[in-house]
Amino acid sequence: MLTLGIETSCDETSAAVVKDGSFVLSNIVASSVELHKKYSGIIPEIAARAQVEYISLVTEEAISKAKIRLKDIDLICVTKEPGLIGSLLVGISFAKSISFALGKPLIDVDHLEAHLYANFLSCDKTKRASPLFSLLSKKPFIGLIVSGGHTSLFLVRRNFNFTLLGSTIDDAAGEAFDKAAKILGLGYPGGPFIEKMAKRGDEKVVKLSCLGLENLDFSFSGIKTAVLYKAKENSSDYSNADIAAGFQKAVVDALIKKTFLACRRKNADIIIIGGGVAKNSYLKMRFKDEAKLEKISVYFPHSDLTLDNAAMVAGLGYQLFRGRGIVRDSASK
Ligand code: KG4
Ligand code: ZN
Repeated sequence: MLTLGIETSCDETSAAVVKDGSFVLSNIVASSVELHKKYSGIIPEIAARAQVEYISLVTEEAISKAKIRLKDIDLICVTKEPGLIGSLLVGISFAKSISFALGKPLIDVDHLEAHLYANFLSCDKTKRASPLFSLLSKKPFIGLIVSGGHTSLFLVRRNFNFTLLGSTIDDAAGEAFDKAAKILGLGYPGGPFIEKMAKRGDEKVVKLSCLGLENLDFSFSGIKTAVLYKAKENSSDYSNADIAAGFQKAVVDALIKKTFLACRRKNADIIIIGGGVAKNSYLKMRFKDEAKLEKISVYFPHSDLTLDNAAMVAGLGYQLFRGRGIVRDSASK
């Protein structure tokens, strides 16, 4: 079964073709991030205007790269929420019109749940489907979303049933990276800049913390203020690289603490992570180290599927459609 995914929740415009909810045949992403850089943040009107311009081109390219024709598509999936309202509207209107023109079903998908589904996708159609499909049928997973707009923990049950366990009460982890980078005079989006700068610093020199209470919620707004004060102090005892390293460590400490706490509380031994901050190599290393100690397995999506993309939307949409008993095939056996 061939599924077309459409994703326009933030600054990306993406279209993808996924086979049987597993194999990514194409995944085209156009970003308007260059247009937002001078504002150090996404300007919704600019994002939506660019999406109107890109959406048909990106979809045509996804169809052609998958080596299929538009009429071969069996199902259309689109991001419903959360996201920028104008941007979401572009994707939803476009997906509705394709669905109507082809006479094929349309299904809407939650953006955060789709980020977690990215872990189940394979970019190589010659490979077997991910082992996560059969593992999920035995025991629930803990899913951690770390993106620019959200930081949330989910219990992921069979049939892709997601229950929210905790989330940030203020800023998201990615937002904290973006704001800390701005304070330190780095570029936008800030995550990759902080990661690079932190490599030159010593994480033990500037001690920061955002561990919070013994629940499953996060808070990252205080740490941005702490970074601001440290940067303003202009002390010769530490460099901006030390601040970046201390900041990155504090954010990852909090993510680790709450995610493994969720595993203990829910008796889960598999963690799946999604969202742009999951690209961070320090975060990956720390999660893998902790997982080894706790005898837990941790999964990250393929690097092409970590940031916003339509393949994750097509994949999850297929499973939701299938879960309603409408189609049968071999993808998740
Ligand atoms: O998931 P995503 O593409 O968009 C949203 O749905 O928000 O995530 C974007 C976020 C940005 O805040 C960006 O700074 C962060 O992901 N990010 C990173 C890294 N690469 C992207 N954060 C930390 N380290 C990175 N290497
Ligand atoms: Zn996202």
